[in-house]
Amino acid sequence: EAIEKGGYDHFMLKEINEQPRSIADCMRGRLDAKNGRLVLGGLRDYMNKFQNADRIIITACGTSWHAGLVAEYLFEEFARIPVEVEYASEFRYRNPVISEKDFVIAISQSGETADTLAAIELAKSKGATIFGVCNVVGSSIARATHAGCYTHAGPEIGVASTKAFTAQISVLTMMALMLGYQRGTLTESKYVQLLNELEGIPVKVEKALKMNSNVEKIAEIYKDSRNFLYLGRGYNFPVALEGALKLKEISYIHAEGYPAAEMKHGPIALIDEEMPVVFIATKDTSYEKVVSNIQEVKARKGKIIAVVTEGDTVVRGMADHVLEVPDTAEAFVPLLSVIPLQQLSYHIAVMRGCNVDQPRNLAKSVTVE
Ligand code: AGP
Repeated sequence: EAIEKGGYDHFMLKEINEQPRSIADCMRGRLDAKNGRLVLGGLRDYMNKFQNADRIIITACGTSWHAGLVAEYLFEEFARIPVEVEYASEFRYRNPVISEKDFVIAISQSGETADTLAAIELAKSKGATIFGVCNVVGSSIARATHAGCYTHAGPEIGVASTKAFTAQISVLTMMALMLGYQRGTLTESKYVQLLNELEGIPVKVEKALKMNSNVEKIAEIYKDSRNFLYLGRGYNFPVALEGALKLKEISYIHAEGYPAAEMKHGPIALIDEEMPVVFIATKDTSYEKVVSNIQEVKARKGKIIAVVTEGDTVVRGMADHVLEVPDTAEAFVPLLSVIPLQQLSYHIAVMRGCNVDQPRNLAKSVTVE
């Protein structure tokens, strides 16, 4: 086992640090920005269906569902097709309206999640096309879908999903760019510009990982907190959910993720000097709005930990702690902003003496409903 951990104390830490490579592996042979090429073999025979779908339905559980939420923003922004993101466990029992014109994407690291598998069977029985985004080759979900794309993140051992999440987002990003280009909702020049930016993401993830020692210091300060709030908007809203889930599952600290603007509709009542609030406040179209949400928390004496874009001075002047990530296209920010959140949950859990790789009550894949 020590050899498998490759010198790391835990699989989770190894997997967090592997992300520059796992994302590059996921894009290898698919993305060639220099020549403006993006090829997803799994989509070849289904591109027509995908392109002409009335609606995309994404179904998944847990972290994979969060990747699906990021994809909702991606598909709607680049390809202008309406998207619904469904918890597989709800979808399967809701008698949902599904037709042959729907393109269903099922996301699963393990490819064995019982609820996701059942949701696939249901959608299939209604005539929809089902596309899988799985990590485990030959898994049940990979076999149950009409077609799919593997994430090629390599085996993920830690129960808390990290590198599988960023690989899922990478595949979904490539799908959205391809779809936008084919449908003509993304111009050639924008498409090429985005392909180039995406190809450079692994290097930027490497840079984001360098915040580790700063993250460790913050973890030391807040490790005994009883609650955490994670807030983000737009593409960073699913990242807020993911940050909160990571903390809950491995450190057993209660954490909630919320769209930052929803805070005033309830969670703001929780804020006092005891409450650490993690803001994902990168420079994007909702930046100014997030800044005013930070002010609201500050006025109530909440402790502010902010994930910001490199060089940010405004949030730096307001927050108690900042963690920088490199600048990128707004749509690709989740691939970077989630990194310090993974590290934060990891360090807090280690400092609390928790079993990071095998947290209590959790299994790596949930094969029962
Ligand atoms: C993530 O950290 C969790 N352990 C969990 O939410 C997981 O993402 C979920 O059970 C779905 O698993 P899957 O991707 O293998 O289908």
